[in-house]
Amino acid sequence: MQKIEAVIRPEKFDIIKDALTEMGYQGMSVQEIKGHGNQKGVSEVWRGKRYRVDMLPKLKLEIVVNDDVVDDVVQTIIRESQTGSVGDGKIFISEITNVFRIRTGEDGEKAI
Ligand SMILES: Nc1ncnc2c1ncn2[C@@H]1O[C@H](COP(=O)(O)OP(=O)(O)OP(=O)(O)O)[C@@H](O)[C@H]1O
Ligand SMILES: [Mg+2]
Repeated sequence: MQKIEAVIRPEKFDIIKDALTEMGYQGMSVQEIKGHGNQKGVSEVWRGKRYRVDMLPKLKLEIVVNDDVVDDVVQTIIRESQTGSVGDGKIFISEITNVFRIRTGEDGEKAI
């Protein structure tokens, strides 16, 4: 199992969520965050306005999936969120050792 953490432009969330839901992925978490990448201190356009602040609002989407579908999810997120401008975001992948569904006590892939 792998955790996909995608830092995305907030306005791309709905389209990404809809694409993932359509593909059959259901469990996900989302958090409002602030951050910066390589262009620290360089202005960026967000929702039509140019900001010179160095911490910009982003959303972090977290989704835990089986190993065999990681690439499918990653490519979907890239396809739906890429604009080609700086600030499109970043995707981090990490290994998840176990998942428990609290209601049933089941664990592993069936608990995802
Ligand atoms: N190395 C990193 N570690 C943790 N979070 C990061 C890292 N790089 C980027 N982020 C997060 O991703 C967001 C978007 O980063 P961004 O897309 O600007 O990355 P970048 O490397 O500067 O790429 P680009 O040149 O396309 O802008 C940041 O606001 C920050 O929240
Ligand atoms: Mg950047």
